[in-house]
Amino acid sequence: MMRPQSDFIHDFVPGSSKRTLLLLHGTGGNERDLIPLGHELDPNASLLSPRGKVLENGMPRFFRRLAEGVFDLEDLKKRTHELADFMVTAAQRYEFDLKKVVAVGYSNGANIAASTLLLRPESMSAAVLFRAMVPFVPETMPNLESVRVWIGAGDSDPIIPASETKQLAELLRSAKADVTIRFFQSGHELTSDDVDLAREWLTRSVD
Ligand code: MLT
Repeated sequence: MMRPQSDFIHDFVPGSSKRTLLLLHGTGGNERDLIPLGHELDPNASLLSPRGKVLENGMPRFFRRLAEGVFDLEDLKKRTHELADFMVTAAQRYEFDLKKVVAVGYSNGANIAASTLLLRPESMSAAVLFRAMVPFVPETMPNLESVRVWIGAGDSDPIIPASETKQLAELLRSAKADVTIRFFQSGHELTSDDVDLAREWLTRSVD
């Protein structure tokens, strides 16, 4: 039998609470990469961690890009739907509630998380976006009224200018999302300050 398109190589780590963190790695990562980060952010949550299906010089990603920061939008949208469909089947298989899913993405993973918020907002209730860009500007804005988003940016990120991060925050706010944006003294890499503040935010603001 052919594997359904919505299937992803993934890790699932069951937790003791009802929350599930959807972990989305950066370019060159895999399904095991962000498991420790997931445990750090919420030791009680279940963790669902797919591996991106696109290969760029052997490095897994969640969608194709034409150059650094220049996305293949057709592929991005197709892959976003694949990921959202995977979430639906994973929720049935592992018996978790999509309304209790918090996406946690880094870089390329944060970009597909943002794209999922725009195209398939029913897939999650909140998102933690580390080093994210504007994936695209949708023709029709989703209603993100009940969605909370935390964005962590590097103030000297060579790939993502501060203006781009602010645009992403504005885009999500224009869809009525509750957005928190934080800048850290760093580049594109993740810092322990990012993790500490994201954890506090998750504990305080997301049920
Ligand atoms: C992307 O392609 O999503 C961004 O350029 C971030 C990256 O993966 O380096």
